Amino acid sequence: MVLLRPLVMSDLSRILAWSQDEAFCLANGWPLGLSPEKLQDWFVRLLNNPPADLVRRGIVLTGEEDPEEQLVGFVDLRDLNLLEKRARLRIAIGEEAHRGQRVGHAAGKLMLEYGFTELGLERITAEVHGSNLEMRSLLEGLGFTLEGILRQHETHQGIKEDVYLYGMLRQEFSG
Ligand SMILES: CC(C)(COP(=O)(O)OP(=O)(O)OC[C@H]1O[C@@H](n2cnc3c(N)ncnc32)[C@H](O)[C@@H]1OP(=O)(O)O)[C@@H](O)C(=O)NCCC(=O)NCCS
Repeated sequence: MVLLRPLVMSDLSRILAWSQDEAFCLANGWPLGLSPEKLQDWFVRLLNNPPADLVRRGIVLTGEEDPEEQLVGFVDLRDLNLLEKRARLRIAIGEEAHRGQRVGHAAGKLMLEYGFTELGLERITAEVHGSNLEMRSLLEGLGFTLEGILRQHETHQGIKEDVYLYGMLRQEFSG
């Protein structure tokens, strides 16, 4: 079963392991080769002084197969704008062994539910590189609409990539 919970200091060792995974860093815009000390500084700042426009939750697996409630990734609502009632969804599964198992789908659904019902958002968006087929399938599976493509918008792994813009309105969410 997939649950969301706030991140805590003891999550640092898992996040440190993900920061050493080059593909994960590139997909998520993390700097490569971040030292453990720098990462710890960043993490402590995030826990003690989270930005007002960010909701970040750890993705945890629970149940008989995962008695330790393993942290496998995190999901964000970023650029939270309560006046305009919108935010931007981001999902990252850090544990490679748990990718492709519908964990991202389940976590995305839980965060959409939180955004639309608890926070009262009316619109949630997501941006993804054109080459990220997993994330595009995930967003389309969650019911997002492709609203536009910014052509050759961002340099990713040395080449200019299209950025796909997705959106979902509250009434389109099927919880
Ligand atoms: C992208 C990511 C979040 C997806 O999460 P996940 O748990 O692995 O994805 P899921 O198992 O829930 O699968 C989501 C969809 O992708 C599809 N999919 C999986 N692998 C795929 C592939 N190689 N090509 C195309 N589609 C694929 C699944 O069939 C599923 O589609 P469905 O919902 O229509 O059934 C995760 O793989 C990840 O964190 N990757 C690295 C970081 C990253 O890319 N983050 C996104 C930045 S915007």
